[in-house]
Amino acid sequence: MVLKKKNKLKKKIFIKTFGCQMNEYDSNRITDLTKKIGYIKTNNLKETNCYVLNTCHIREKATEKMYHEVGRIKKEFSNKKKPIIIITGCVAQAEGEIILKKEKYVDAVIGPQSYHKINEIIKNIEEKNNKFNETDFKTIEKFDELNKYKNSNNKISSYLTIQEGCDKFCKFCVVPYTRGPEYSRSFSEILNEAKDLVSNGVKEIILLGQNVNAYRNDSKKLADLIYSLDKIEGLKRIRYTTSHPKDMTKDLIQAHGDCKKLMPYLHLPLQSGSNKILKEMNRKHTIDEYLNTIELLKNINPQIKLSSDFIIAYPRETKNDFDKSLEILNKVKFINSFSFIYSPRPGTPASLKSEINYSEAKKRLMIFQSEADKIKIDYKSSLVNKTTKVLVENKSKDRRYYFGRDEFNNSVIIKSEKDLIGKIQNINITNFNQNTLFGAIPEDKKNAA
Ligand code: SAH
Ligand code: SF4
Ligand code: F3S
Repeated sequence: MVLKKKNKLKKKIFIKTFGCQMNEYDSNRITDLTKKIGYIKTNNLKETNCYVLNTCHIREKATEKMYHEVGRIKKEFSNKKKPIIIITGCVAQAEGEIILKKEKYVDAVIGPQSYHKINEIIKNIEEKNNKFNETDFKTIEKFDELNKYKNSNNKISSYLTIQEGCDKFCKFCVVPYTRGPEYSRSFSEILNEAKDLVSNGVKEIILLGQNVNAYRNDSKKLADLIYSLDKIEGLKRIRYTTSHPKDMTKDLIQAHGDCKKLMPYLHLPLQSGSNKILKEMNRKHTIDEYLNTIELLKNINPQIKLSSDFIIAYPRETKNDFDKSLEILNKVKFINSFSFIYSPRPGTPASLKSEINYSEAKKRLMIFQSEADKIKIDYKSSLVNKTTKVLVENKSKDRRYYFGRDEFNNSVIIKSEKDLIGKIQNINITNFNQNTLFGAIPEDKKNAA
């Protein structure tokens, strides 16, 4: 009761998140930060005093989406006191000044490396009604500040950002411009945060970075971090994402054999099956090198499964180059493939090249996706009547079903009366659809039969 009353007096912050897992991590950290100035998170837009839109700029329509969202809020609050409106994330970084000029309803734009200043900014808006544009790359300062705030995430599976930015400069990609240069957090700072998360009840940690396997701090690399996390009592699973094929070093591959908590699943974006296109994209590796990495991984742990990202209809992609992407898709049999039509991003070198006709691009995408879906369905149907180990994360709203993920990151829905949250449970798969497996605990299944 007392707690409820106290919360009623607090100001409310509503955060809407687009984009990658790193944005989700950032949104959680913004919640942690703003507690200090009296804000608590709300999921009810109507009652918010501060609305944060954490944006993504990776593909088309990002900016339009942002203006559309702001328009929605304006409408919602047309008869009420206007909340503070803050745009964070990669669109804020890329278009900060323009946003403030174009949309007077917005009070501040804050880039991904400046959000540690959010409290100062909110206070200033509350008191002086000033407008703010904070888009410097102050990554070290950001993490120094964030380290003072305990990560309060207590979900079963939690993200932990260990590396930011990217120095690879693939020619199509905005990340080096929106997130800035590569920066790896200190080893001890990451371990402290991981221990905090485990003490909150977290059972799975997903290490994050735009180029996570390029992590390097003094002499420590990603593999060293995984070996150390593997020893944390109470932590059950470790994953890392997103990796660049060039940085799949021998020590990291070895960790997949040695660390029992490291899951046998890896998202390793390839982008194209054609060496010519890879070179034009500045991906810095060949198809043979990519396949060799997979072979080394499978030699260490034959169970390992992969997923990947593909860009379809990159400038100068011929029918033959596209066929090579289909070829490798069928060769590796990725259990999940995410494919996108190439989208020219302002300021990137590829955006200066002429694009492939949209209807041809769309046709290629449909062919690719239908092939990728076939592989996924074949894989999923091969799991029916088999047992898989699921870390159970939460229960559905109607409390009848559990949700969890197996070792290969497949979503699994489980029907059970037992208390399963936070447990790793053997689940017998009974059915599946495109994106989900369905199953039951073997004993439950027997009892039902
Ligand atoms: N760091 C990761 C990818 C980050 S972006 C890597 O190196 O692979 C996530 C995915 O978005 C990419 O893998 C790519 O497939 C897609 N993507 C990025 N820029 C794109 C663009 N301009 N057009 C279409 N897809 C793009
Ligand atoms: Fe973008 Fe990934 Fe390339 Fe970096 S490595 S430029 S994040 S696609
Ligand atoms: Fe999007 Fe920025 Fe992540 S552009 S994918 S939110 S790094």
